Amino acid sequence: MEKMKLKSIYSEFRTDLDYIERELERAVRSSSPLVEEASLDLLKSGGKRIRPVFTLLASKFGDYDPAVTARAAVPLELIHMASLVHDDVIDDADLRRGTPTAKSQWGNRVAMYVGDFLFGRALAMISELDDPAVHQVLSDTMIEICVGEIIQIEDKFAEDQSIRDYLRRIKRKTALLIASSCELGGLVSGADPSIVRRLERFGYYIGMAFQITDDLLDFTATEKELGKPAGSDLIDGNITLPVILALRDPELRPVAVEALETGADRTAIDRLIRQMRGSFAITESRRISNLYLDKALREAESLPATPDRDSLIRIAKFIGKRKF
Ligand code: IPE
Ligand code: IPE
Ligand code: MG
Ligand code: MG
Ligand code: MG
Repeated sequence: MEKMKLKSIYSEFRTDLDYIERELERAVRSSSPLVEEASLDLLKSGGKRIRPVFTLLASKFGDYDPAVTARAAVPLELIHMASLVHDDVIDDADLRRGTPTAKSQWGNRVAMYVGDFLFGRALAMISELDDPAVHQVLSDTMIEICVGEIIQIEDKFAEDQSIRDYLRRIKRKTALLIASSCELGGLVSGADPSIVRRLERFGYYIGMAFQITDDLLDFTATEKELGKPAGSDLIDGNITLPVILALRDPELRPVAVEALETGADRTAIDRLIRQMRGSFAITESRRISNLYLDKALREAESLPATPDRDSLIRIAKFIGKRKF
């Protein structure tokens, strides 16, 4: 049902997206059958492809050339894929997109190199573009993702963190890559600089809403809906917005503290998840996500009125309601 919705939005630009999809398949070919199989498995297991879709739609605000756009869109999805492969090592996750992760199939050592391979392929393809600004944006974003993930490791189980700490972390680990996806689409097609700035801001706000929603879904959705483990952020001590808010709630705080005790058993964790349902922690997280979403919609509405702008708006609205 949810997947159908996205499919119907994508049907507006299916041919362009199919071209990017073929280029993605070409990009993961390797002389190592193991690396190729692991990369292809992840590629074929699905995924929403929102980053390359944003690059594609953003590039329509300039002089659109499918081959040029693909040289940015494909690397962005490859970098996303690499970060997922590494993320599943860090988060010790066995399931992604409803299928076993690279780390669970081949172990952490292979997974680290599969991720690096994908990074390498991303750099090889983006180097076909001349504009130094493109490379600057991409490398800055990769650096920020690393910093964001490292801070997340440092902040594990830290009960005293603020909402601001959380927002700064998700900006780095998620929002900037989505902002860059939009910005690069505009840059490579030579869109007007003021439009490129608006696209970038749109991506940033969407990216923030996207990660807050992901963190909410970790509490409210099932493994079956997500295709990846639910409730695992808490087990790993990754304190996301709903937990920060639960720690401020006099009723939920003792339950949350107990669930965060190192070596907390499953019952304590399940109790917190149960008690959080319908709580202020959840509704307030959703409200904050919606604030970002509204800001994204304002940016999108300021873009020239075209069918591609309308697609951006439809995707933004989908992200606010998504269940996977
Ligand atoms: C998952 O990203 C990682 C986050 C940044 C939350 P997506 O939800 O875009 O993953 P796929 O590509 O659709 O599987
Ligand atoms: C995603 O965070 C951030 C990156 C992939 C860099 P999560 O750890 O929440 O992603 P999922 O939930 O496993 O997709
Ligand atoms: Mg993670
Ligand atoms: Mg994870
Ligand atoms: Mg998550």
